[in-house]
Amino acid sequence: MTATISPLIAGNWKMNGTRASLDELSALAGMLTSGAAPRAIVVICPPATIVAAAARQGAPSGIVVGGQDCHVEVSGAYTGDIAAGMLADAGAQYVIVGHSERRSGHGETDEQIRMKAIAAIGAGLKPIICIGETEAQREAGDAEAVVASQLAGSVPDAAENHEVNIAYEPIWAIGTGRTPSNEDIAAMHAFIRQKLVDRFGEKGLSIRILYGGSLKPQNAREILSIENVNGGLVGGASLLASDFYTIISAV
Ligand code: PGA
Repeated sequence: MTATISPLIAGNWKMNGTRASLDELSALAGMLTSGAAPRAIVVICPPATIVAAAARQGAPSGIVVGGQDCHVEVSGAYTGDIAAGMLADAGAQYVIVGHSERRSGHGETDEQIRMKAIAAIGAGLKPIICIGETEAQREAGDAEAVVASQLAGSVPDAAENHEVNIAYEPIWAIGTGRTPSNEDIAAMHAFIRQKLVDRFGEKGLSIRILYGGSLKPQNAREILSIENVNGGLVGGASLLASDFYTIISAV
């Protein structure tokens, strides 16, 4: 089932990176072009201020660039926000929406995230829609219910006809060095796959499901070989080219 989906590894730099960080991108580009061609699509999501520069710099080595968030509107009086079309104009091809840090830090709802994904698609971007339960929700046995409701609420119907990526990121695994067991990852990814098939039929089989949360060089090979794990969304370990390259090579 997963064999038909081209894997993707995305690095989420979060609020880290200035123009000097583009050196890390160059280092990654060098690694990617000196060895065997990577099996995964390689995406870097840097801060918006360097999206354009990163897109220019990554292009020759096949590194594509994404934003970390976008506004639901095309333009207007929204100080400080960035429209999906602006990211596309700067050279981005992907955009993360609904990251748990946006959900918790900016009170984003499933409905807003769905609108952002629609805005992204409208601008020609491929959204990476993040979902995932808190530790308390998992301990209460509610992880599947939470994920099901986030999927229902934040994935737009347009996923049927456009490339949409899901990133399952258990919140308690983000930046903590802790990961779910391989069995728990397999079970949740199978559950997400089933929900996508229930809703989108055959198309649900080709929607990419990424795993995110403390994905590191040490655990990448194991986690990325789990069925229905079609790649990863990497935070901390994407900041260092050598670590990120090891994760990409684990595909
Ligand atoms: P992490 O972050 O890899 O540092 O845990 C993942 C993410 O937030 O996307």
